[in-house]
This record gives sequence, structure tokens and C-alpha cells, in this order.
Amino acid sequence: MLTVAGMGPGNLALITPQALEAVAQADVLVGAKRHLAQFASFAGEVRVLDADIPALLTWLENQRARKVVVLASGDPLFYGIGTRLVAHFGLDALRIIPGISAVQYLCARTGIDMNDIWLTSSHGREVDFDALARASKVAMVTDKQCGPKAIAEALIARGAEQCWLVIGENLSLDNERIHRLRPAQVQAHYEMNVVVILNER
Ligand SMILES: C[S@@+](CC[C@H](N)C(=O)[O-])C[C@H]1O[C@@H](n2cnc3c(N)ncnc32)[C@H](O)[C@@H]1O
Repeated sequence: MLTVAGMGPGNLALITPQALEAVAQADVLVGAKRHLAQFASFAGEVRVLDADIPALLTWLENQRARKVVVLASGDPLFYGIGTRLVAHFGLDALRIIPGISAVQYLCARTGIDMNDIWLTSSHGREVDFDALARASKVAMVTDKQCGPKAIAEALIARGAEQCWLVIGENLSLDNERIHRLRPAQVQAHYEMNVVVILNER
């Protein structure tokens, strides 16, 4: 049986009991190093999740007799590995255990309601900055190519200097930092982060 389990933003206390139970029952754990490190005492086989998703899918095809748990950051179906697994294996062959996404966590820490929020990502895709500057409330998971600074510069270039950027770094971890800044105040570098843009006129 193949399971994909949401790991939440990173703090062990934010993983659901159902995900922990799935890990405890697993023969094999697949995940990023930071997620595998949370289960250092796991006695079964482990496989590090890298960028080669086609190779992972082929390998998983041959593991159907074993209990494999794929550890997904945040929620598996929010810009996560869960979407690829559903497309490849179908829902009958896959159990999905939800998790708390980094965006949900940041909204909870800052009291931003999630009504009418546009959930998007800059991960490996062209960002539509015009649409971003027009929207009143956006939450974005980011990557190294397009992080807070690139977003801030694009907003300034489109006249949205008065919006707020709420940047959550290393959420739920010991080195968590949360910033609420105007675009002009955004620094060049932030560690793992999500950004909420508040542009409510
Ligand atoms: C591939 S996306 C996965 C999003 C994930 N499925 C979710 O629900 O949060 C990875 C991105 O999520 C964000 N992220 C995940 N964990 C985070 C954390 N603890 N703090 C800040 N951002 C985080 C970062 O933008 C990171 O680049």
C-alpha cells in the first residue's frame, strides 16, 4: 500500500496522529532529508526524495507489496508530491493523509483570514506578476528563483508600493522568523519561506 503523508511545516507537534501511525507501520519511508531526520529511529528502509520524480515513480511501481510512506512537506496536495502520485497511481492505490500547509500555519500565526485568498506558487513556473499585483490577497510558496525580493520588486514596478508582504521563514522551526514589510523594505535573502501579499484597497 502506498501512502503519502503530510508533514506540516516541520515541527513534529504539527504532524497528525494518523501520519505518525502510518510512519510507525511503514516498511519504507521516502522523503526529503529534513523530514527523514525527524524519524531517525525508524528501523525500516529509507529512500531520500530528490528531484528525479520519474525515477521515484518507477521505483514505487515495484514496491506495491510493501507499505511505503512518502513524506510530503505541508499538505501533499498543495503544490506537493501528492498531485503527481494521484495522477500516476490513481486514488484506489493511494492513501492521502493531509497536513498543515506552510501557508495555513503562517496565516494562523499572523491572524490573516484565509477567505478569498489566492493560493499559488512560484516553484518552477513563470509567475504572472500582473495578476499578482491586481489581487487583493495572495499566498505564495516560493523557491530560490522567485522569492520575496523578486516579488517585492515586481509589485513596486506595477505601482503596488502600499501593499504589505508577510514573509514567514522556517515556519514552526526553532529559527522561525515572521516579517510584515512594505515592498521597499524587503531584504535580498530569506531562508525557506512563504509570502502573503495583502493589497486590500
Ligand atoms: C514544494 S512546496 C510545498 C508546499 C507544501 N506542500 C505546503 O503545503 O506547505 C515547498 C515550499 O513550501 C514552503 N515551505 C514549506 N515548509 C515551510 C516552512 N516550514 N517555512 C516556510 N516555508 C515553507 C516553501 O516556500 C517551500 O519552498
